Amino acid sequence: MAAVSTLTDYVQAYQPDIERVLISSEEIQGKLAEMGEQISADYEGSSLLLVGVLKGAFVVMADLARYVRLPLEFDFMAVSSYGAATKTSGVVRILKDLDHDLEGMDVLLVEDIVDSGLTLKYLLKNLAARKPASLEVAALLRKTGIQKVPLDIRYVGFDIPPDFVVGYGLDFAERYRNLPYIATLKPEAYGG
Ligand code: IMP
Ligand code: MG
Repeated sequence: MAAVSTLTDYVQAYQPDIERVLISSEEIQGKLAEMGEQISADYEGSSLLLVGVLKGAFVVMADLARYVRLPLEFDFMAVSSYGAATKTSGVVRILKDLDHDLEGMDVLLVEDIVDSGLTLKYLLKNLAARKPASLEVAALLRKTGIQKVPLDIRYVGFDIPPDFVVGYGLDFAERYRNLPYIATLKPEAYGG
C-alpha cells in the first residue's frame, strides 16, 4: 500500500478510478451556502433539529449546518437498504434510531442523495408518526426522472442524471466518501 502523507495524496490515490467530476468542491460549498441562507430565513425562531441519515449525509450535514445561522440541534439515524450495492430495494432497516423525542421539533431531514426515493419515503413516514411540529427535507442531490414515489423535497442542491456517483459522503463499497467533489467511477472501479 502506498504511503499516505497529505490529504492531496490521499485523494490522488482514488484518481485512477474517477471517470468524471460532476460537481466540484467549490460548487458544492456555494450551493450549501445558498441552502443555508434559505434555511436560516425559513426557520428563524423555531426549534430546529437537523436529522442526518448515516452514513452518507454526515458530510453534507457538517457543512450545511455551518451555513445555517440559527441555534439548532443535531441527531442521526442509520439505515440500511437491503439489495445490491448500487441499487435500492426500498426495504429499509433502522440500524440506529434518533436520540431525540421529535414532538414539537421542527425537523429537517438531511440527505445526501435521493435516488428512487424509497428510503426517503420510508423515513418520512416513520418520522411523521412521531409528531414533529414540522418535517421537511434537504437533499444535496436528486437524480432526475427515476423517483418511484412523488416526494416533496423543500431544499434540493443539484439535480443530476441517474448515474451512480461517489464522493462527498457517497460511497461505493464504503470507499470514496472523503472525496471533496461528486464524481462518476470508471466501469473498472466497480470490478473490485
Ligand atoms: P433511494 O432509496 O433509491 O432514494 O436511495 C437512497 C440511498 O441509496 C442513498 O441515501 C444512498 O445511500 C444510496 N445511493 C443512491 N444512489 C447513490 C449513488 O449514486 N451513489 C452512492 N449511493 C447512492
Ligand atoms: Mg451507500
